[in-house]
Amino acid sequence: MTDPTAEPHYPMDRQCPYAPPREATAVREAGTVPRVTLWNGVRPWLFTRFDDARTVLSDPRFSADKSRPGYPLSSAVALAETAVEPTLLVMDNPQHDAVRRLVLGEFTVKRAERWRPAVRAVADDCIDRMLQGTEADLVADLALPVALTVICEFLGVPVEDRDLFRTLTHTMNVVAGSTESAATARQTLQDYLEDLVADHERHPQDGFIGRMAARHLPDGTMTRRQLAAMALLLLTAGHDTTANMISLGVLTLLRHPRSFAALNTAGENTRIAADTVEELLRHLSVVQRGIRRIAVEDVPVGDRLVRAGEGAIAAINVANRDPERFPSGEEFDPAARAHGHLAFGYGPHQCMGQSLARVELQEVYAAVARRIPTLRTAVPEEELRFKSDMAVYGLHALPVTW
Ligand code: HEM
Repeated sequence: MTDPTAEPHYPMDRQCPYAPPREATAVREAGTVPRVTLWNGVRPWLFTRFDDARTVLSDPRFSADKSRPGYPLSSAVALAETAVEPTLLVMDNPQHDAVRRLVLGEFTVKRAERWRPAVRAVADDCIDRMLQGTEADLVADLALPVALTVICEFLGVPVEDRDLFRTLTHTMNVVAGSTESAATARQTLQDYLEDLVADHERHPQDGFIGRMAARHLPDGTMTRRQLAAMALLLLTAGHDTTANMISLGVLTLLRHPRSFAALNTAGENTRIAADTVEELLRHLSVVQRGIRRIAVEDVPVGDRLVRAGEGAIAAINVANRDPERFPSGEEFDPAARAHGHLAFGYGPHQCMGQSLARVELQEVYAAVARRIPTLRTAVPEEELRFKSDMAVYGLHALPVTW
């Protein structure tokens, strides 16, 4: 018999691979804010409404510091994030703003736009290779190589080592993985990047690491270790999310042939690609386990008072379908122009690489639609393996043919 007073476990299970768990959606529909139980017994509040999620992500009385006792960690592995050298993701103000300000100029829309031709070239190159055969895995043959190559070129790290970065990132992100392996993987990558920073210091080079080394190391505004931690965050946050969005986005477009065809015929109409990308970001919301915070003071969020020391989860995947903000929230409809979603977070930690991610996604979806208009999945849908076991949702593989 189920205990009616029991608090739901979080994360909940999905019933449909293309929608958030029904149980989480039901929470939003009921307008309640339940306490949920995590893997380690910690009991944060679950916020599923759009406005509440925004409050959790922007109120300065919430902290992102995962080392605080009672923090609603997504897994034991997540703690490794604070073990080596704290990254921006786990910093609070005033430190967070001070560090973010040092690098923010590298992430403007204008700078991201400069990457458009390079992204197109990488995507075309991958598609050329795919088209030499009759079948391909869209994850291994397109999504990962594009996302990894672009972030490597952006940072100025050797593209030849991209398989190493991918393996280490994977080890750091498996939620049910071993804490020890995650910590070792993080340390290995940190050491690798510290050596690279030292090398760029001795032999100045273009790229993010080279420019930041020249600007911030001589006067001590940043240490080698801090710059390496920043590069580590960008390398990991900058490819896994994007690669998952590429593969899951293409699959979603294949299930909506009119939207896929519209990209093919869009020509110079870049608004179609831009609207399609925003809608895919909102609809898929690949950061599937919510964005987590802990209250450092009592904070009212909607009707709920979160007490100091209690955790809060902003379930952005559910909030991004809140009909009070997006009237046809459950539907996939690029024409609805659903801008202002939370797929990149909100508030001080909002994704720093979002302009670059948008350029990548717009270019890759458009290239696939233009060059492989007959693309289709090569296996029955039941055989697709979705990443329910990972922090970021997506596909382990996507066999396709044309
Ligand atoms: C579609 C792809 C992407 C998605 C869905 C995504 C999503 C997110 C989300 C939800 C956050 C907020 C986390 C929080 O509030 O705790 C975030 C933060 C961040 N993202 Fe992204 N991201 C993407 C691509 C990228 C790329 C390409 C880069 C690097 C070039 C990047 C770098 C970062 C960084 C540095 C932060 C931390 C910002 C801070 O804490 O101040 N992301 N991302």
